[in-house]
Amino acid sequence: MGKTTNTVLARDGALQAPWQYGAATIISKALFDTTAIYDALIVGGGITGITTALFLQKAGKKVVIAEAHKPGFGTTGGTSAHINTFADTTYAEVASAFGEEGAQLFADAINEGFTTIKSNIDTYQIDCDYEINPGYLYAETGDEAKQLDEIYNGALKVGVPVNYTEEVPTPVEYLKALVFDRQAQFHPLKYLRGLQKAYREAGGIVLENTLVTGIETDNGVHTAHSPTGVIRAKTVIYATHMPPNINLFNFECAPYRSYVLGLKLKTDTYPDALVYDMQEPYHYFRTQVLNGEKLLIAGGNDHKTGHADPEKAFADLEKYIRKYYNVSSVKYRWSSQYYVPVDGLPYIGQMPLAADGIYCATGYNGNGMMLGSIAGKILSDLVRRRPNRYQDLFSPSRIKPVDSFSEFVKENVDVAYHFIADRFHIHETDSLKRLQRGTGKVLEVDGEKIAAYRDEKGAVHALSPVCTHAACIVNWNGEEKSWDCPCHGARYDIDGNVLTGPATKNLPKISSDEN
Ligand code: FES
Repeated sequence: MGKTTNTVLARDGALQAPWQYGAATIISKALFDTTAIYDALIVGGGITGITTALFLQKAGKKVVIAEAHKPGFGTTGGTSAHINTFADTTYAEVASAFGEEGAQLFADAINEGFTTIKSNIDTYQIDCDYEINPGYLYAETGDEAKQLDEIYNGALKVGVPVNYTEEVPTPVEYLKALVFDRQAQFHPLKYLRGLQKAYREAGGIVLENTLVTGIETDNGVHTAHSPTGVIRAKTVIYATHMPPNINLFNFECAPYRSYVLGLKLKTDTYPDALVYDMQEPYHYFRTQVLNGEKLLIAGGNDHKTGHADPEKAFADLEKYIRKYYNVSSVKYRWSSQYYVPVDGLPYIGQMPLAADGIYCATGYNGNGMMLGSIAGKILSDLVRRRPNRYQDLFSPSRIKPVDSFSEFVKENVDVAYHFIADRFHIHETDSLKRLQRGTGKVLEVDGEKIAAYRDEKGAVHALSPVCTHAACIVNWNGEEKSWDCPCHGARYDIDGNVLTGPATKNLPKISSDEN
């Protein structure tokens, strides 16, 4: 059984989410056996990885998790922790692309993800501030009202409880609104810690600071390589969002950044609900009680990773919130990454073009809590060679519906642009000397492009700006102090270390005369 130690957990950016505080890490006494062939190696210790690991370990399998940092370092540590019965891809949209049966299955999967979280909380007695609240979705324009009607009809057809309402707990004026009863919210890292504790108590192993850089398969055994050694397993699950290195998903999922603020209000006008508007990009509001103190959690202003200015995204979000709420202070601000699939549904299952028994789960859109949880069930069934009713709908090898084609092209045009323009169009004129403290920029120095960051003490951290995944040029993210790749979402810290895949190699350092 593990003991606990209190720390502030690191995550994949410089800004801090409220979840990072007060959530203890767990030290396991279970030992990794370097000679063993495990039943499953799970790469990634977020909600998908740990849920899958727990199901498998409880089913009697020998499981090892390899996490490049610490569990919760990635998107699970930066989520806004909404648990819904509806999804970003609406049931009406799924019905038009995958048929009524597909929409019904998707609704069932979302619901099963929802109930899986609750059942884990009950079974393992996880104290994670879980609360049931109504969810409101409101339209401010005629077009949005039409979409709202489609959402209503789509939800009704698949049996998701929904009603029109005239009472939305929002100061924003709206035309029409829906209420979804019994939505939920929680503290994601307390939940993750509870799962991890149950997993470790069942004999599961977590290898922290273990970045898997590649896998070889021989005779049905997969050997994963990492700088700290090799891990052997009969099956491998990439629970890393985007699987590492170059693969099909680089062209089927677009990485997005999402922005969140945790605010104190001057008046007690915190909503007892989860509230969403329908703007593009949308905003949402909910209340979280942390250490006995209420916080308004408000988010939105999402954009493709590396395609917009994060500073402006935060500034616009704060301005929007202050227009409607009497804010006394902003206590937290953070951003996080998620992946939008080209046809609207996640990819969960056997990884295309990989050896048999290598699985992945990605493309959750903004619904990672439910889809990460149902992925845990699907993947654990696949590893155990048991059928799962969602496996065909979410199969990563599914044929893409025709009407996703335009979106598919759009995603790839972006990538193509960055491949060409970034490599060959030289447009930087700033010199290193003009780089302000605390800022970063891709500069041209002696005819070479460099990614340069000047820290608060004045020292320059200079890196190659060429993403080690597929050679796009990275962009500076001044809020999270990271270098973000606009092509497939890889991210690096100021010293070039990988924060987010699909890259597995760091950006090379360049020595600078200034240091
Ligand atoms: Fe693919 Fe950078 S993430 S080129």
